Amino acid sequence: MARRKAVVANGVGVFGNATVAHANNATITDLDGNEFIDFAGGIGVINAGHCNQAVVDAITEQAKKYIHTSFNVVTYEPYVELCEKLTEILPHGERTKAMLVTTGAEAVENAIKIARQHTKKQAILCFTGSFHGRTMMAMTLTSKIDYKLNCGPFAPEVYRLPFPNWYRYGEGMTEAAFVKRELKRLNESALNLVSPNNVAAIILEPIQGEGGFYPAPKAYLKGLRDFCDKHGIVLIFDEVQSGFGRTGKWGSYEHFDVTPDLSTWAKSLGSGMPIAAVIGKAEVMDSAKPGTIGGTYIGNPLSCVASLATIKYMEENNLNQRGVEVGNIIRSRFNEMKSKYSQIGDVRGIGAMMAMEFVVDGSPTKPDAELCGMVVSGSFADGLILLGAGTHKNIIRILSPLTISDEDLNRGIDIIENQIKKYSK
Ligand SMILES: Cc1ncc(COP(=O)(O)O)c(C=O)c1O
Repeated sequence: MARRKAVVANGVGVFGNATVAHANNATITDLDGNEFIDFAGGIGVINAGHCNQAVVDAITEQAKKYIHTSFNVVTYEPYVELCEKLTEILPHGERTKAMLVTTGAEAVENAIKIARQHTKKQAILCFTGSFHGRTMMAMTLTSKIDYKLNCGPFAPEVYRLPFPNWYRYGEGMTEAAFVKRELKRLNESALNLVSPNNVAAIILEPIQGEGGFYPAPKAYLKGLRDFCDKHGIVLIFDEVQSGFGRTGKWGSYEHFDVTPDLSTWAKSLGSGMPIAAVIGKAEVMDSAKPGTIGGTYIGNPLSCVASLATIKYMEENNLNQRGVEVGNIIRSRFNEMKSKYSQIGDVRGIGAMMAMEFVVDGSPTKPDAELCGMVVSGSFADGLILLGAGTHKNIIRILSPLTISDEDLNRGIDIIENQIKKYSK
C-alpha cells in the first residue's frame, strides 16, 4: 500500500486496504492469507464467479491463436459470434445489431453518437442519480458531483430530469400518483427544458446502479417509451450494471415490458475481461457511418471469447435462475433485519440487484451516511467486501457473484447484520 501511495495518482480511488493474491468464485484472498467474501464482484463484473474455469480456458486457448489484430483491420470469428449471441438473447425489435467496445463509458459514448447520427438531432436528456462513466460525454451524463468536480467544461446539449425515485421523493403518494406527476414533468420538459424536436436521445438506467439500486416504476418507463415514439427520440437503456443475470434476466429492461432502441452493456458480460457492447434496432445502429464509431481495441479477441464462455456458462448453469434465488435469500434476510433495526429505511431490488438504505427516524429524506460508512468499513474488517452507493452515500448494494454458495452468502449477510446490531440504538 505504501508503494501504491508513492507512485499511483491519488485520484485512482480504492475502497479497502487489501492486496489480492488470488480470487476464486466468491472469495478474494489477500497477500497475508486473509479470506474475504466478495459482495462487490469487482463492481458488478463477476456474476459468473472469479476465475470461472470455462472463461480461463477460453482465454488461454485464444491467446495461443491471436491476441489482437483489430476488428477494423481484419474480421475475426469471436467478435461475429458474440454479436450473433448478443442479438439472439437481447432482441431489440425485429432486427437487431451490435457493436463491441471495451468499457461501459465507451459503450455510452458510442450509443450517443449513433443516436445523434440516426436522428440528426443533438440534445440528450438524462437523469439525476445516474452514473454512465468517466469519459467526457459519459461524465457529463453522470449526475453525482463527486464524480465530476472541477472536470468541466462538460459536453453541451445535455439536459437533466429528476429520476423517478419513488422512495426518496414519493412524499407518501401512491406509485401511480407519483408516476403521473413525473410523466407530467417529462411532458412539460418540452415547454420548459428542451424542445423534443432537438432531442436525439433519452438515456437512463432502468434500475440505477451507483445511484442506489432504485428501479424506475414500470409505468414511468412505458410513458418514456411513448414520449420517445411521439417525438422521434432514441430511447437508450444503460444496462452496464444491471445486465447479465444480476436481476435474474439477461437485461433488467425485460422486467418492465419496454424495449429500448439502443442499450449499453459491459461488466459481467466479460467476467473481468474488458468488453462492452451497444445493442440496438438495426436501422438505428446502421445510421452510424464507418469511421465514426470504433477504436483500436474494439472487441478484443480474448475479451470476446471470455464473453462467449461466460454466456455459455450462464445458459448451461441457468445463472439467471440462480440470480432469482440469490436475490430471494438476500431479500428475506434484509427484510427480517428491517423489522428489527429502525435505521433501515428501505430494502429493495429486483433479482439479486438488492440494496438496503439507511435513514434517520425512518424518514426517506434523512439519509444516514455515517451508519452506512461504519457498516461498510466494519464489514471489511470482518472479512466481507461490501460496496456503498447513492448520492447521499447511505445505501449498501450487493453485487456478489451469482455462483456464490448459500453458505457464503449467508455468512456475508451475518457480517452485515452484526455491524448493524453493533450500531443500533
Ligand atoms: C450504469 C453504468 N454505466 C456505465 C458505467 C461505466 O462503465 P465503465 O466503468 O466500464 O466505463 C458504469 C460503471 O459503474 C455503470 O454502472
